[in-house]
Amino acid sequence: MNHRRALRAAVTVAVTGVLAAGMTMALTSTASAGTTLRASAAEKGRYFGAAVATGKLSTSTYVTILNREFNSVVAENEMKWDATEPQQGQFRYTGGDRLVSHAQANGMSVRGHALLWHQQQPGWAQGMSGSALRNAAINHVTQVATHFRGKIHSWDVVNEAFADGGGGGRRDSNLQRTGNDWIEAAFRAARAADPGAKLCYNDYNTDGINAKSTGIYNMVRDFKSRGVPIDCVGFQSHLGTSLAGDYQANLQRFADLGVDVQITELDVMTGGNQATIFGAVTRACMNVSRCTGITVWGVRDCDSWRGSDNALLFDCNGNKKAAYTNVLNALNAGPAIPTTPPPTDPPPTTPPPTDPPPTTPPPGTPDGCSASVSLNSWNGGFVATVKVTAGSAGTNGWNVGVTLASGASVTNTWSATASGSTGTVRFANVDYNGRLGAGQVTEFGFQGTGSGAGITPTCTAS
Ligand code: XIL
Repeated sequence: MNHRRALRAAVTVAVTGVLAAGMTMALTSTASAGTTLRASAAEKGRYFGAAVATGKLSTSTYVTILNREFNSVVAENEMKWDATEPQQGQFRYTGGDRLVSHAQANGMSVRGHALLWHQQQPGWAQGMSGSALRNAAINHVTQVATHFRGKIHSWDVVNEAFADGGGGGRRDSNLQRTGNDWIEAAFRAARAADPGAKLCYNDYNTDGINAKSTGIYNMVRDFKSRGVPIDCVGFQSHLGTSLAGDYQANLQRFADLGVDVQITELDVMTGGNQATIFGAVTRACMNVSRCTGITVWGVRDCDSWRGSDNALLFDCNGNKKAAYTNVLNALNAGPAIPTTPPPTDPPPTTPPPTDPPPTTPPPGTPDGCSASVSLNSWNGGFVATVKVTAGSAGTNGWNVGVTLASGASVTNTWSATASGSTGTVRFANVDYNGRLGAGQVTEFGFQGTGSGAGITPTCTAS
């Protein structure tokens, strides 16, 4: 086998591909010759990540592999509910912050895992139910997503909410018993808290078209049709000794709903097929243009939660396994995510209009400002998202008043400053969203306990 010739051939294809890509964006199939997982994935517009236990960031073999091979990380445990809110209302971000700093210093993006899950809940939440639990859960989502705002590529907003077995329905849990709408309430709260993060639903045993993945598929389709903010679906892919023949077709059907898909916790039982399965999963992701990244659940076999399965890409000494080579080859052989071509025409040279801009206010917008609310309510609480629209004169600042139903109170506000919490509550703009041009729109939100019924915002501009 003439390695040099093979390498030269691969490089030639890659270079030809790059040149061709400049001319026609239809061409996306570009073999390349990256020598690390992160470089190869990045060449194809994707990330390759690992779950990290922050305690190991001081182990040199571990951190050497992590920094060389991966450009995305996820906390194996440190961003879960029990870790981030050990006592109700007392938040602890030490582990999560440490991981984010490591990622930022090493050119890695961060997956957030997981805002709500029936496992690894703090004891105080395990003992709660009904609207008290719902409020605590939504508050958790809001606080944690706000803390990490702007730093997370994708959040697993809800993890493992579907049941195993043939029914395709939800899993029973304390969260599920707060009402079937708990998942959408969590997604809306996460969007309000960190509008820049992609919001994912994440689950296991979804590695092909089966009753469970179909149940999730139907939920995502419903969310998309009703405007519930969901951007991605994570396929954990904790795999055994075989891979479903329709693994790729399953990813594709979700992508066709208009969400990204990600392989989020990949590990594969050791045995004759391990390397083959790792390669096949990587190929499947590469073949789905909305599959934006792969994460393996740990670095070396001895780091894995799967004990003696030896389920990962590096052995305990940090050597690359056959599975590693198959993954790298599949990344290099796969097509790149199509990118939008940069405009090739010169930018338009039309001079800006010299006439004064029209002063007619947009229909229905009063002179000062107007406000409208969209409510996400459940029995015992609500999240309100308020849209503020400037009138024809624009605003230097704004103030929105709402009158709450009796017994209701505001517990949390974002992108505005609240005065009062019951009765008539006023929300003033914060520094960055007070100044609006004519007709311009901004949003703020608040969470409350009790009923959100009858909230009608009124807006005053300054
Ligand atoms: C596992 C961790 O790897 C372990 O360290 C911890 O003891 C239990 O949780 N699905 C998930 C992950 O979404 O959070 C789990 O991680 C593995 C299964």
